[in-house]
Amino acid sequence: MMGMKLEHASVVLTGAAGGIGAPTARALFAAGARLLLVGRHAGRLAALMRSLDPQAGDRSRVDVLAVDIGTPAGIEAVRSVALARHVNVLINNAGLASFGRLGALDEAHILQAVTTNLVAPMLLTRALLPGLQDQPAAAVLNVGSVLGRLALPGFSVYSATKFGLRGFSEALRRELAGTKVRVQYFGPRVTQTGFNSPEVEAYNQETGAGTDPPEVVAAALLTLLRSGAAERFLGVPEKYAVRVNGLAPAALDAAFKRHRLALPDA
Ligand SMILES: NC(=O)c1ccc[n+]([C@@H]2O[C@H](COP(=O)([O-])OP(=O)(O)OC[C@H]3O[C@@H](n4cnc5c(N)ncnc54)[C@H](OP(=O)(O)O)[C@@H]3O)[C@@H](O)[C@H]2O)c1
Repeated sequence: MMGMKLEHASVVLTGAAGGIGAPTARALFAAGARLLLVGRHAGRLAALMRSLDPQAGDRSRVDVLAVDIGTPAGIEAVRSVALARHVNVLINNAGLASFGRLGALDEAHILQAVTTNLVAPMLLTRALLPGLQDQPAAAVLNVGSVLGRLALPGFSVYSATKFGLRGFSEALRRELAGTKVRVQYFGPRVTQTGFNSPEVEAYNQETGAGTDPPEVVAAALLTLLRSGAAERFLGVPEKYAVRVNGLAPAALDAAFKRHRLALPDA
């Protein structure tokens, strides 16, 4: 298994200004990578740029791109800038939260969650793949979730997007085996960012979910990227739970009654 040398890497990071994206950007910068930071809000990206430690290197290695990756124009903008920067690492990190009983989720929200979490990473990967294949070593790292292997009440749509992203990653990894492009799936557990609404935080507290600070998650993402491994899930109980769930999901159904009862009413 060939790992990635970050000091020689040219990276596209989507969702860069978010809770996990920002410490990931700072860690990649400190590791010497060239960065293209993607998000929808220019102001948030500019603030992230200013937060990069000047002691850690030259900020001219970094560029920002404010686009919506849920649109064809956004995908095309990332593709053309990435090509000019000889990008060899794509980190699909942008994501949209979705929580609640299925009947309480409106149609526009469901479509946006599927577009942001699943369709956009697929289209971005497809758009960047020819450029990635021209590089001596390349990686596509998809930020999924523990909920991409273990689906919980209240996360039907979110889990579907993250299960889908895992299926996409697994198939593409096998499709590209023997090429220079690694495909990796990263599954954090609950991370302390603004991603989780007060309702989700109340549910997590009620169900005793383990959490990680975003800096720890960012460091784990870099470890996965450097290792070249196929997948990494965070949290020791979660690592076992996802394995058991993979073998006998129905056997675990009764274990999630507490989660069902912790859901807000529809
Ligand atoms: N936090 C958790 O508990 C947790 C756990 C497991 C996995 N994850 C996954 O980790 C990833 C990052 O989560 P986070 O906690 O950092 O969330 P976050 O703080 O809400 O950040 C998400 C980022 O995605 C960007 N984004 C959303 N839609 C976009 C679009 N259409 N085009 C471009 N950018 C878009 C947002 O950028 P702007 O709003 O600035 O445009 C934002 O910076 C997500 O994929 C999430 O599913 C999170």
